Amino acid sequence: TGQTQTLLRGRILTFTAEPQDEADTSAYRYIEDGALLIEDGRIIASGDYTQIAPQAGQAQVIDHRPNLLMAGFIDTHLHFPQVQVVASWGDQLLDWLNNYTFPEETRFVDAAHSADMATRFYDLITAHGTTTAVAFCSVHDTSANAYFAEAARRDMRMIGGKVMMDRNAPDGLRDTAQSGYDQTKALIDRWHGQGRALYAVSPRFAITSTPAQLEAAGALMAEHPDCYMQTHLSENRDEIAFTKSLYPDAPDYLGVYETYGLLGPRALLGHAIHLEPREIDVLAQTGSHPVFCPTSNLFLGSGLFDDAGLRGRGIVNGIATDIGAGTSYSMLQTLNEGYKVLQLQGQKLHPLRAFHWITRGNAVTLGLQDQIGTLDAGTEADVVVLDARATDAMRLRMGRAESLSEELFILQMLGDDRAIAQTYVAGQAQKAIA
Ligand code: GUN
Ligand code: ZN
Repeated sequence: TGQTQTLLRGRILTFTAEPQDEADTSAYRYIEDGALLIEDGRIIASGDYTQIAPQAGQAQVIDHRPNLLMAGFIDTHLHFPQVQVVASWGDQLLDWLNNYTFPEETRFVDAAHSADMATRFYDLITAHGTTTAVAFCSVHDTSANAYFAEAARRDMRMIGGKVMMDRNAPDGLRDTAQSGYDQTKALIDRWHGQGRALYAVSPRFAITSTPAQLEAAGALMAEHPDCYMQTHLSENRDEIAFTKSLYPDAPDYLGVYETYGLLGPRALLGHAIHLEPREIDVLAQTGSHPVFCPTSNLFLGSGLFDDAGLRGRGIVNGIATDIGAGTSYSMLQTLNEGYKVLQLQGQKLHPLRAFHWITRGNAVTLGLQDQIGTLDAGTEADVVVLDARATDAMRLRMGRAESLSEELFILQMLGDDRAIAQTYVAGQAQKAIA
């Protein structure tokens, strides 16, 4: 005690497991008049308002009724230096990288530019309800330092890393096997476990790393097994063919990462669309995590992610925006497009499973479900406040909604940053209270 407390009142939805549908009541907790008591960046009590309010004493009470309180959204794959690449016309992956993305990322050698973009990046993601993200920075350590410094200033649980890339990229956007190792090591020492920050060793993808660099990335993971490893896998047919030509001895694309010791429960593999049976076996055996990036996969014409097929093998998939090939910062819009990608394959995404995915599900993918992704007492106070009547279209449709699942589906299909009434990061409101 002694710390100021905040009491958030509103409807509460939080998950204890992955629900398949509304009948799966043991997987979620829904409270009509709920409250969260927050102190020192943590939720210290969570439940019925009538039970929590007497514990609140001097707490500042913020009444969010009739809005819905959920854990802050988690975005498990995006690119910090691509905020000015979003919506670049016409190309598929490899041309899009060469024509738009690589030139833009060269600008992040500049510390002032990186710092300016970091401010805007965090303003944007929190306005969209995202409180934790896993990002690739540019090859320059300046970009990673700006990314983590701004996260620290906001006390956000952010994961990321400087991209490692030492070939097939323009001048000004390559490191070397040695400098990529040294800079990554220094960034891990400076940021990993500092405050809420966690580091991800980030070889961009097999095409832009020499074998020597992937070996260095494997050494970093062996030396820092509690860091994450993030990269890209089997997003595009031309990318896969190019990878096979660069690594002719590998059994397949995933085999490249496997050879260098990069797989395991801390490994996040963006896209993972065009997989061979052996690759799926290896994903399952190693506990590695594919990450579904629906807006990006549709935008670049990459393909349809087989969520049900991978889940059926016990693989735990993340879901993410993939800004800047992704076209929205919103995890709600990501679910909207994800729903459609699954529809095209005859697969179902129930709204309760969808909202579990962008909260506790992505936290499980990161092994952070005891810290973030729920509204349980003892966890970090990252909270999003959702307004399913934020627009005329939503209000009209809500007039015919009769259940929590319908409300969630309306948020998922029609919602975006306008549906985010407030975002709390470590208990701090991110928007001025109207
Ligand atoms: N593969 C390698 N780099 C990238 C990137 O920046 N975006 C996407 N979508 N795929 C990649
Ligand atoms: Zn990506």
